[in-house]
Amino acid sequence: MKVFINKIIPEIGFKLLEEAGIEYTVWKEKPILDRGQAIQFCKGHDAFLSVGQAGLDADFFKECKHLKVVALHSVGFDGVDIKAATANGIPIGNTPNVLNKATAETALLLMLTVSRKALYLHEKIKKGEWGASQQPTQDLGVDLAGKTLGIVGLGRIGTELAKICTQSWGMKILYHNRSANVSAEKELGAKRVSMDELLAQSDVVSVHTALTPETKGMFGMEQFSKMKNSAIFINTARGGVHNEEELIEALRQNIIWGAGLDVTNPEPMSKDNPLLEMDNAVVFPHIGSATKETRDKMSSCAVENIIAGLKGDPLPYPVNPEVYQAE
Ligand code: DGY
Repeated sequence: MKVFINKIIPEIGFKLLEEAGIEYTVWKEKPILDRGQAIQFCKGHDAFLSVGQAGLDADFFKECKHLKVVALHSVGFDGVDIKAATANGIPIGNTPNVLNKATAETALLLMLTVSRKALYLHEKIKKGEWGASQQPTQDLGVDLAGKTLGIVGLGRIGTELAKICTQSWGMKILYHNRSANVSAEKELGAKRVSMDELLAQSDVVSVHTALTPETKGMFGMEQFSKMKNSAIFINTARGGVHNEEELIEALRQNIIWGAGLDVTNPEPMSKDNPLLEMDNAVVFPHIGSATKETRDKMSSCAVENIIAGLKGDPLPYPVNPEVYQAE
């Protein structure tokens, strides 16, 4: 049994494969593999551990229907044609839960960086403009303590953020979900409201929804215009959830106060993107899960999925459990 791995994963993943007696081939080169090359490699292997979701479309699954399992090195699977994988009898695995805290911390880091104008002031120092302390009214940020955080998609990651923000800053939590998050309501005092109410009342709006046809482009000028002029927009979910041109316009016209993004559309973002020149925007290169500890756990989960899939056992972290009913 052999697994193909398209990028270099943390060492723990290779160790677990070796302990399980599974052979592997790793693509270690730059540039990354194109779709055709990935298919060719997969044809010579029984399983695919995929870092990234590019190319996992209906054609891929048709060409590679021999695969016993595809394990994603991510929790997100918005780029994968899950229906096609299921139709071809291929179980898909992901890495849920292990990155909740790291991603929530990234959202918090963006909230703090934007609210205290941290990158803008850092850039000023580099230009010889020390700034902030010269006049007591100059370059002021805004407090987070006691403010209202509106979470769109209060699931596992949003709940971690809500915990930090209520417990450390006494922030109030509003949320907008299809279904109620009863434990967050009980334990964190979170209040479920309509989208319009969340936009109107929140000082920070943080997005934690998956990218689906319903959430694609759900933040545009209409939504930004309903937010407070003093509000901050944070997206650590998927770049496709906001309309970038309209976000840029909302920031330029001071319709909202600032924005912090860990996700963009496309990724990577072009170095000429206007957001990178704006004083009220902060962009990170999709670092939500990028800590040593979290990436180690993600690798372990992905390899657990590979081992189970190769044995013909149900995956511990399945995305399409319906594949077993289809058999
Ligand atoms: C995920 O796991 O989906 C993250 O976005 C990757 O960092």
